[in-house]
Amino acid sequence: MAKKTPIALPSDEALIKKAHLARESAHAPYSRFLVGSALLAADGRVFTGCNIENATYSLTMCAERVAIFKAVSEGVREILKVVVVADTDIPTPPCGCCRQMIWEFATPRTEVILANLSGQVEKFKIEALFPNSFDATFLPEVV
Ligand code: THU
Repeated sequence: MAKKTPIALPSDEALIKKAHLARESAHAPYSRFLVGSALLAADGRVFTGCNIENATYSLTMCAERVAIFKAVSEGVREILKVVVVADTDIPTPPCGCCRQMIWEFATPRTEVILANLSGQVEKFKIEALFPNSFDATFLPEVV
């Protein structure tokens, strides 16, 4: 049988760089809090996102969820890594909504990488950031 060629996955540094770039597209005129995200899918593709605010405020969408929506709409169902970049002293963690959305497409090895503009980086397993989570295992089986 032919051997499968392993996919060359981007380094964490490369993902952080992409999240920095994505942050430059943030539409955040109300909070002025610019966030960038980069998501590594299990198939090796990278999707980026920035936060997109709205004059109604409540329609605001976080950078991480923009990246997740882009990835899932292109067929991704497994997330390996999600990077979040913001200009804070302590690297900004994802909000509760984003943690829930990451969890939906996570595996036990899924990592969340936080970085700030001064180069500080923190890495967490999603399980550590989102314990006791609700997911499909609680739903009655369909089919
Ligand atoms: N925000 C994100 O994009 N990701 C986070 O992890 C935290 C918050 C955005 C939403 C809003 O546009 C701004 O940051 C302030 O909350």
